[in-house]
Amino acid sequence: MPLPKAELHLHIEGTLEPELAFALAARNGVRLPYADTEELRTAYLFDDLQSFLDLYYALMAVLRTEQDFEELADAYLARAAAQGVRHAEIFFDPQAHTARGVPIGTVVEGLGRALDRSEEKHGISTQLIMCFLRDESAESALETLEAAKPYLHRISAVGLDSAEVGHPPVKFREVYEAAGALGLRKVAHAGEEGPPAYIREALEVLGVERIDHGLRCMEDPELVERLVADRVPLTLCPLSNVRLRAIDTLEEHPLRAMMDAGLLCTVNSDDPAYFGGYVGDTFHAVHEALGLEREQLRTLARNSFEAAFLDHDEERRAR
Ligand code: ADE
Ligand code: ZN
Repeated sequence: MPLPKAELHLHIEGTLEPELAFALAARNGVRLPYADTEELRTAYLFDDLQSFLDLYYALMAVLRTEQDFEELADAYLARAAAQGVRHAEIFFDPQAHTARGVPIGTVVEGLGRALDRSEEKHGISTQLIMCFLRDESAESALETLEAAKPYLHRISAVGLDSAEVGHPPVKFREVYEAAGALGLRKVAHAGEEGPPAYIREALEVLGVERIDHGLRCMEDPELVERLVADRVPLTLCPLSNVRLRAIDTLEEHPLRAMMDAGLLCTVNSDDPAYFGGYVGDTFHAVHEALGLEREQLRTLARNSFEAAFLDHDEERRAR
């Protein structure tokens, strides 16, 4: 029996498996520049975050209709359920779709159709986190928040993702203030490739409750002390860090050191179709590579529920 767990760092577009990508391409008349799923998989060799993002955004061309987004989310939820996920807080990137002429309503309603059935069909409670692309302008983020207003009943939080270096959190101060005023919770990717200063800024300027990745906090002992004291959750993604070359090998991942330092660590899959595994596979991989014992894996699972945006009753039901 896999450990019951919550997944808190999962880009729904990053769950697009090659088989589904080709099926949607055929249905929507989109031509992919790969002969077949095998050839596509051979392109999954990345040098860094940007080289992954280039392929990730290109492949999204196959996602066009509500039904596409529904099938994408339903396929993720089925896989996640088999690996013990009981609660999922799911990122989506509206600007990556609206830029291609797919309205935000198509994305949110399509995902919503799968999420509405998730508890009954997969035993997974869900929330949606709308991410702003940090390599797009602050104005575009504000326009995205405005366009999302008819769908806020489906959205729990805002996040910040895409190319990190050169796009500090402060660029998005205004949109995070506006999101907070609308009652949305806040997270942000920080310290994946960017410096520890971006983690501080996400906390101090954007007022985020969780840091997505936060890997590079380990370069700044004072920051670690603060994250520990405030019990700020980090949504780590060890397989992603290796595939995007933030770390050479999984054996060198600082997860164990981070847990030993008292950080509130969770492990997650990020973009599992691209990085070699879903969250249960990730638990298994850190057990094997870092020698984490059953008790430490249980701590990671417990942390995932503590860090989730669930109230006490919801948390008890999900565990
Ligand atoms: N979008 C999808 N995956 C991402 C990651 N690992 N970092 C930043 N943006 C992303
Ligand atoms: Zn991510």
